[in-house]
Amino acid sequence: SSNAMWGGRFAAGPDAIMEAINASIGFDKRMARQDIDGSRAHASMLAAQGIITDTDAETIREGLLTVLSEIEAGTFEYSAALEDIHMNVEARLKEIVGEPAGRLHTARSRNDQVATDFKLWVRDQFDAAEGALLSLIDGLLIQAEAGADWAMPGFTHLQTAQPVTWGHHMMAYVEMLGRDLSRVRDARARMNECPLGAAALAGTSFPIDRDATAKALGFDRPSANSLDAVSDRDFALDFLNCASITAMHLSRLAEELVIWSSAQFRFVTLSDRFSTGSSIMPQKKNPDAAELIRAKIGRIFGANTALMIVMKGLPLAYSKDMQEDKEQVFDAADNWMLAMAAMDGMVRDMTANRESLAAAAGSGFSTATDLADWCVRALNMPFRDAHHVTGSLVAMAEKEGCDLPDLTLAQMQTVHGAITEDVFSVLTVDASVASRTSYGGTAPDQVRSQVARWREVLA
Ligand code: ARG
Repeated sequence: SSNAMWGGRFAAGPDAIMEAINASIGFDKRMARQDIDGSRAHASMLAAQGIITDTDAETIREGLLTVLSEIEAGTFEYSAALEDIHMNVEARLKEIVGEPAGRLHTARSRNDQVATDFKLWVRDQFDAAEGALLSLIDGLLIQAEAGADWAMPGFTHLQTAQPVTWGHHMMAYVEMLGRDLSRVRDARARMNECPLGAAALAGTSFPIDRDATAKALGFDRPSANSLDAVSDRDFALDFLNCASITAMHLSRLAEELVIWSSAQFRFVTLSDRFSTGSSIMPQKKNPDAAELIRAKIGRIFGANTALMIVMKGLPLAYSKDMQEDKEQVFDAADNWMLAMAAMDGMVRDMTANRESLAAAAGSGFSTATDLADWCVRALNMPFRDAHHVTGSLVAMAEKEGCDLPDLTLAQMQTVHGAITEDVFSVLTVDASVASRTSYGGTAPDQVRSQVARWREVLA
């Protein structure tokens, strides 16, 4: 049989394979609520403009609510023959209210309809991402505040560099996620233009009121070019970019948690709630959540790449290729939200092992830079010379099998005669971190003021 929606010029129905490749109902049913919201706003506008009667609009609007309640109750029967959520909803509306259902699609096309529905869906996800990021930032601030003065090793090349504080390290992630938050807010503001009323591609001859539907659906304004309105998927790519960059940040933190929770590091203990055991090795407590968060970037960035490639060669305006946008975005959104929620839980539950951090902070000649800086200040040495003297002292300590503070003054003076007892005051990790008072530095007071600044920004 030919199609109820567009069967007028068709004699035969589609091949089964045609139906299989064409149908999107299997996934776009996730936009049912958005589709019904959009249609209700469209029906009201059509009536307000005198394009359909108030009675028909009211019948349509009520009927759509019935459809929604069937969908929410799980009693709605989706049909692949009806292709997508838009035609499934309309067909059911027809069964419920009869003739007026056929008037709903006046001055509209599935092209502007799907763009509107998808934007509404993505917009909700931006809002969810904002909430998740705010919560994760809050969890990191709690960790940062508790450990504002807990020394730990700072690394470059994963080799001991200089002591930093636990709070400072946590706050580095707050900065990253803060940029993610601002990207989400930018993208959400940029996408908030309503495609509805662009119709198939050229606009419509009906006297529609696009401002009214835009306003009813919470958009800032109608999109200004009908061709662009139905062919634009930038908002979905913006979403995937936001998700990708955030996932990259989450992956770096996850990687650190994997390393830090190992028996070799013991910097953190993850909670039982966010760890798993081994079926053979009884001692194991594995950071599976962190590992999976680390891996999520793969599928999220994959979705980003996939949609970019789908879009890159499409002539204006709509092409069916664009139906491939949704599964990528749905999957990326689900996994982004899951990764943020799991990281949120891990961060709130984890315990930093203060003693292990402190012990590690002092190993690896981590205060060598402090020693060189002392030579500059106390002995008025050019930094390059001070670097050389310190290098010799590190070599000496390495040979003696001790740390820098364990060298005697006499030993140090064999490298440079002017060194005095005062040098020992800069060789402890606490002195080292306390001295890094430059703006944005690791000194506990700097960290505390950054925590306070972020709390203010987020309040
Ligand atoms: N299922 C389609 C999609 O997701 C809806 C738009 C169909 N438009 C069309 N001209 N065939 O993109």
